[in-house]
Amino acid sequence: MMLRAVGLRKSYDDGERRVDAVLGADLNAEAGAFVSIVGRSGSGKSTLLAMVGALTRPSGGEIFIAGENIWALSERALSDLHRRRIGFVFQFESLLPNLRAIDNVALPALLGADMRPEAAYTRALDLLTRVGLSDRLSAFPGQMSGGEQRRVAIARALINRPRLVLADEPTSDLDEETEEEIIALLEALRKDEGFALLLVTHNRELAALADCTLEMRQGLLLPVDAAAAPVRPVRPVILPAPVTPEAAVVADAEGVEALRRLGGHLWATFGRLAAVAAVVFGVAFLANEAVARYQQCQVEAQRARLDALEELATSTLRSDIAEITRLGNHRYQVTIYLENTKAEAPIYVMSPNVQAFVQVGSNWQEAPLMPVAEATASVLIVTGRLLYKFVLDINVEKFTELLPHYMHVRFSNNMLVSPESAPKDELFQRNDNYFIYLKPDNVDDATILQDVRFPGSPPLWIWMPPH
Ligand SMILES: Nc1ncnc2c1ncn2[C@@H]1O[C@H](COP(=O)(O)OP(=O)(O)OP(=O)(O)O)[C@@H](O)[C@H]1O
Ligand SMILES: [Mg+2]
Repeated sequence: MMLRAVGLRKSYDDGERRVDAVLGADLNAEAGAFVSIVGRSGSGKSTLLAMVGALTRPSGGEIFIAGENIWALSERALSDLHRRRIGFVFQFESLLPNLRAIDNVALPALLGADMRPEAAYTRALDLLTRVGLSDRLSAFPGQMSGGEQRRVAIARALINRPRLVLADEPTSDLDEETEEEIIALLEALRKDEGFALLLVTHNRELAALADCTLEMRQGLLLPVDAAAAPVRPVRPVILPAPVTPEAAVVADAEGVEALRRLGGHLWATFGRLAAVAAVVFGVAFLANEAVARYQQCQVEAQRARLDALEELATSTLRSDIAEITRLGNHRYQVTIYLENTKAEAPIYVMSPNVQAFVQVGSNWQEAPLMPVAEATASVLIVTGRLLYKFVLDINVEKFTELLPHYMHVRFSNNMLVSPESAPKDELFQRNDNYFIYLKPDNVDDATILQDVRFPGSPPLWIWMPPH
């Protein structure tokens, strides 16, 4: 049995309110099986999936994946299991906005060093092709439709060849037609790759495509037919309120009353004195408070400015290699782009300083890189997409071949970024590294094709993710 869950329960308890999100769930799925779960909002579907996927510890019960009691594993083994054997497609967008489609997909394999980068990228390319996105490899999530983003998320869930895929309403925000396409795609991939699929969906027609459909009803997981039977309503359990200091004061009120009777006028005098003191202290306190608040505002304003600057320099400004062409005689023209993605106001990039290195053994050996024309400017004003060019002279006899016959090249780009043309303290230092594989001048395509399979002729350069 690929997946076996017995007597699963989960309660959330924040001290004031207890919610029994899952009251009892038994679940079995054979290797390669397709199980769907339907149920009303709040019935506990996501909680169930989070427990099965090793994301949320159950309050009770056990989960076995390929015979292993997952919640008895060490933290490390659990995170390994989580990354390698389970693929997730979530209810909401979950792609990293600053990474292209292809590196979003390859990332889980690169993170755990589960695959060499070449293998991860070959698999990512294959998966993106199979989900119909071979022409959107370099698109950022913000440039893709909801359906396309979901396809990328599916490809990403499969990168490590999981044996179990958990999909939590992967299509709930899409139109009906796209929804059907995406589920059909998941189903086709399941047949190809042989993973077991646990799909939560609100769409009963799509759920019916599964080998077995279950319904979550108020925390209970039932076969769909049995789900029609009434279930005892579950209400959040309100815990008894703890005894507060105020309550203790009320309880003591009788004693206070006795004291009051003992010396009423003494209390009145004390009360007047206390009132005067309270006013004096109050004024002092307010003055102090005002100063503190003012200082706090200053600090917050400064922090907000720095956050805005960081956002501008890291998210709003994008930069990478745009193009590389051969000039012959070991020389290449390298075009780097800087892009202001919001284009509301210019971004000033000061003294961009780019260096190139080629990997030789485990070292990076610098290769001459000469700026051309606008790349020599000390301040670049970026309003839209700006290209700047360099001539790279890379004459290295022996180099490390991570990809057979190709050089592994790194460009390091140091920039100071500011929203002002003459900044005072509003400068953000950014250092980017761009990695590529570059085809050397002195090797012909036929030789490369003997060792590496490319669909056409070997490309001059291949983009790599930051690593
Ligand atoms: N982290 C949490 N802390 C407290 N209560 C939670 C938490 N997560 C979920 N719940 C509660 O548990 C119950 C089940 O939530 P869950 O998200 O599993 O439902 P669902 O069936 O996935 O709903 P939906 O269809 O809206 O996604 C709900 O009452 C919810 O408010
Ligand atoms: Mg949910």
